Amino acid sequence: MSQFKEISPLEITENPFQLIGKDWLLVTAEQNQQCNMMTASWGGVGIMWNKPVAFTFIRPQRHTFGMLENSEYYSLCVLDNRYRDILTFCGTKSGRDVDKIKETGLTVEHIDGVPYFAEAKLVLVVKKLYAQNMNTESVKEKAVLKNYRADGTDWHKMYINEIVRVLVKE
Ligand SMILES: Cc1cc2nc3c(=O)[nH]c(=O)nc-3n(C[C@H](O)[C@H](O)[C@H](O)COP(=O)(O)O)c2cc1C
Repeated sequence: MSQFKEISPLEITENPFQLIGKDWLLVTAEQNQQCNMMTASWGGVGIMWNKPVAFTFIRPQRHTFGMLENSEYYSLCVLDNRYRDILTFCGTKSGRDVDKIKETGLTVEHIDGVPYFAEAKLVLVVKKLYAQNMNTESVKEKAVLKNYRADGTDWHKMYINEIVRVLVKE
């Protein structure tokens, strides 16, 4: 925490399209003292129920999915370009098969018991407010379906999360 300063969500000046879609996020959670992270490039930030929120979309096949389901809080970390290979690794390997903390050498720290990475340039600590399974029946534009299996078993779950703390590298 010492290398970070805490700011409010309103003070985030970076472009969210860049941060999420281009830089990518590490979605990080912990369960039974096991920490795991996965890369995410789909999501968003905004306001819901008058709160600053972050949206994440996680497929049920992810190891991280089970951890999120069992966590009230988790974190979203943005790392700079030096860590691109690590982000690719965390987006192609599952915590079911490898210990990603060990393999990447990233440094886990905690804030209020929530894991995040010392190497991050920006950390959002989030609290789940709402979660809903997405589904074929709700699709309004057929082109969306090409992202999903015909049997519909890989639909994302949408999480709307309150942004409760924001840390930026000093
Ligand atoms: C650039 C990139 C973005 C990704 N975005 C998402 C995402 O938004 N949601 C999702 O469920 N999976 C996404 N993934 C896939 C997961 O990161 C990947 O399946 C990962 O291996 C899951 O790890 P886990 O099984 O340890 O949770 C993305 C992968 C990459 C490489």
